[in-house]
Amino acid sequence: MSLNILEISYLIASLTFILGLKMLSNPDSARKGNLIAAGGMLIAIIATITLYQDYDSGKMINYGLIFLGLIIGTVIGTIMAKKVQMTSMPQMVSFFNGMGGACAALIAIIEFQSHQHSTVTGFDGELLVMLLGLLIGSVSFSGSIIAYGKLEGKIQDKVLPMNQVINMVMLGTIVVLIVYQMVSGSDPLLFYVLLGIALIYGVLFVMPIGGADMPVVISLLNSFTGMAAAFGGFLYGNKAMLTGGILVGSAGTILTILMCKAMNRSLTNVLLGAFGSAAPGGAKSASGDQTVREISISDTAVLLSYSQSVVIVPGYGLAVAQAQHICHELEKLLGEKGVEVNYAIHPVAGRMPGHMNVLLAEADVPYERMQEMEEINSKFANTDVVVVIGANDVVNPAAKNDPSSPIYGMPILEVDQAKNVIILKRGMAAGYAGIENELFFYPKTRMLFGDAKATLQKLTAEVKEV
Ligand code: TAP
Repeated sequence: MSLNILEISYLIASLTFILGLKMLSNPDSARKGNLIAAGGMLIAIIATITLYQDYDSGKMINYGLIFLGLIIGTVIGTIMAKKVQMTSMPQMVSFFNGMGGACAALIAIIEFQSHQHSTVTGFDGELLVMLLGLLIGSVSFSGSIIAYGKLEGKIQDKVLPMNQVINMVMLGTIVVLIVYQMVSGSDPLLFYVLLGIALIYGVLFVMPIGGADMPVVISLLNSFTGMAAAFGGFLYGNKAMLTGGILVGSAGTILTILMCKAMNRSLTNVLLGAFGSAAPGGAKSASGDQTVREISISDTAVLLSYSQSVVIVPGYGLAVAQAQHICHELEKLLGEKGVEVNYAIHPVAGRMPGHMNVLLAEADVPYERMQEMEEINSKFANTDVVVVIGANDVVNPAAKNDPSSPIYGMPILEVDQAKNVIILKRGMAAGYAGIENELFFYPKTRMLFGDAKATLQKLTAEVKEV
């Protein structure tokens, strides 16, 4: 009877994961979806703690240790989630992902202890699942911790001499060791050697990748953790763990592919770090013979107040300046003056998937004001003023015009079609791709230099006076 309740609980948990994931795809339902999936996870945890002893009555269960772990994890997780800044979200995701990888590797290690003494004849599928769980979980753990350190600025990018060759040799050694174990039967020494190599491989795999490429790598490592967890679910015959792992694994893989597509880069290109560093022979240097035109706060206020339609393009700089609230205030103020204001959202604006949506939602910007790239691109020609706030690469026309540019082919927000373009940024620094932006030198473009938050505060005050 209790076995059935346990199985039913896992089924309910699995369903909530699927439903939660589906609801995450829409900003309106995302919060609810997250809570529903978390509720399912709670059901799975409670069911496992209360019913698992009947399921496998031969084993002693140490409740003290289980609750101690639960309390420590809950306290640390809650404090971290409450304190984290929006701009630090990628590193927190990376840290949590690393913990998931470590759990999957620990499951493999613990299960290996009892498996060593079993005598399996023929193909030992359980051993293979353990080895794969150990390998992928360990790579994900050490790789995610390095990614976390890089995004926190605690670890610098480092390319060892012949890094790629060393990585290939290590990967080859791992494959050979797994095949050897499968043929010769479980050997504890080889098992722990494999663990050591996998941990080192995770470090060397992530170490040379450019710090700003980390969101793509984190998403890839996320899919690794999902796979490793699914192997754990396989070992225990735990359907909730299996479904959860498969969902995380496939969602991480799809996200990795989508991010690469939105940046028009292959995964190999991201992993080999060919972007974000210097771009030799890439973008044309326009600054040498061209000058930018500036605009004052008061002229901007007049231009915006007397426009019919304004589109705001948020980018990474808006997140850095934490200017989302004042940006929303300006948008409301212009709305009260009869100006139609919308936001143009590029899929990889910022540094993590959905960065701009989350940032603007935090400031209570209505979702219907946020328009995706495909939708808004056709409207720029009828837009009076585009205000670009801390965005750079996602509005760079070189992606369309300059085949030698490293971002050539990347879909962009075609703001150069609008009647006027105003750019808010601190100076002439390049964006993430490290290349110059010819848009800044166009006759219809005006630069409004300064920190985005300070500029928007002054601008809002000025618009009130118009
Ligand atoms: P970026 O191209 O990185 O440009 C951001 C701009 O903001 C910079 O030019 C910077 O210029 C300005 N800025 C920084 N701090 C500011 C502040 N306090 N006030 C005003 N301006 C400030 O940003 P983007 O256009 O959002 O493009 C995102 C880039 O990240 C793309 O290349 C994308 O491929 C990449 N990327 C995105 C993701 C995801 S999933 N979103 C993942 C990996 C990589 P100043 O320093 O002169 O102010």
